[in-house]
Amino acid sequence: MKTADYEECFQAVAAIWRDEGGGSLDDIALMATISSILAHRFSHFYWTGFYRVCGDRLVVGPYIGTVGCLQIEFGQGVCGTAAEKRETVIVPDVNQFPGHIACDPNSKSEIVVPVFGPDGELIAVLDVDSDRLDAFDEEDQRGLERIVALFSN
Ligand code: SME
Repeated sequence: MKTADYEECFQAVAAIWRDEGGGSLDDIALMATISSILAHRFSHFYWTGFYRVCGDRLVVGPYIGTVGCLQIEFGQGVCGTAAEKRETVIVPDVNQFPGHIACDPNSKSEIVVPVFGPDGELIAVLDVDSDRLDAFDEEDQRGLERIVALFSN
């Protein structure tokens, strides 16, 4: 079920990406499109969006959800941890994650996926928060990593 949803999301994003210039499409336009497609497909995605690497910190980019915090230091919270480690972090219960940044008490679990550009450089993280506990697993990781791989083309 989830696999089919991710496949449809990937196909929808990839079709728009191809039609709009592929690798020459502006990153922020692609981030906005991915946020919209994911948030409307999965009803338990409470906050879906990107934090972009801006100098020495992460700064909020396109998202769908309630107001998120604007700036996150590397190593801080779940987003900063994923950015520092350059790997996906899944948190089944945000209240058990030391240093979690609580922008909205309705967020119960989250997954943060690093986003790499064409030269392998970290350009952003994709942050998805759910209003359910334990909402994310390896299937979400695979589905989301496949979608953000478009940024490296
Ligand atoms: N939960 C995140 C902060 C960002 S928001 O929830 C939108 C974190 O700890 O990285």
